Amino acid sequence: MDLQAVFSRLFEDYKSLNPSVDNIHSLLKNKNEQIVNDHIAFRTYNLPKINTDVLAKAFEVRGYKEKGNYRFKEKKLTAKHYENDEISSAPKIFISQLEINELSKQNQTIINQHYQSILDDLPNPEELIFALNKWITPSFKIYEELKLESEYAAWMYVFGFRANHFTVFVNHLNQFNTLEELNDFLMQEGFELNRSGGIIKGSKAQYLKQSSTLADKVEIKFLEGKHVIPACYYEFAQRFALPNGDIFNGFIASSADKIFESTDFRK
Ligand code: NI
Repeated sequence: MDLQAVFSRLFEDYKSLNPSVDNIHSLLKNKNEQIVNDHIAFRTYNLPKINTDVLAKAFEVRGYKEKGNYRFKEKKLTAKHYENDEISSAPKIFISQLEINELSKQNQTIINQHYQSILDDLPNPEELIFALNKWITPSFKIYEELKLESEYAAWMYVFGFRANHFTVFVNHLNQFNTLEELNDFLMQEGFELNRSGGIIKGSKAQYLKQSSTLADKVEIKFLEGKHVIPACYYEFAQRFALPNGDIFNGFIASSADKIFESTDFRK
């Protein structure tokens, strides 16, 4: 599978789970925009056979290299980002993991049990990014327990291995010169944006501005019946040139920290 096929497969899943994805694409295509992806993000737990380094294999065999690492202390997360030096137009990859040893003993036990139940049937490391959550029907009770301590843990427990979000690279849009213009357009069209930390995270001085929709709410079949919960969101990023003239390709931890909250549960 070449890199384009990998992204197409991830995107098909992302689009089929989240109705807003197609809506945003149609809106931008109607404006004759060609969408370029800034980055694609994944989530996991820091457990040996499924951690960030394992998920990254699918990309490392296709020319990606680790370029940055991040810590989100309050959310108990660490993350790395990867870039493809051979194909400069390829999206960056952002992979985060929950440091489960920092959770309560009770939630560590829940996650370890979940992990044990999937261990025997894990795909090759290079295929893990497509694995979804095919092993279990989640329990709503467990989802709610995890959510009390970590929205991220609860999301991961239900949605598993898949693209958590794609990101429109605003620099490559023709009709929108700034992230502010794109945000205004999306809000006029009825999309709800994540306001945690302000609609725009980051600044030109930090060389990166980001915004995101609130995650689509989707119906999930739990052991106890169907419930509607937040799935994935769409992100938008505008990047700026460093003093040396190169576009900044990294991430800003304080901004990413707020972007994570796009999947938080809201009544
Ligand atoms: Ni992102």
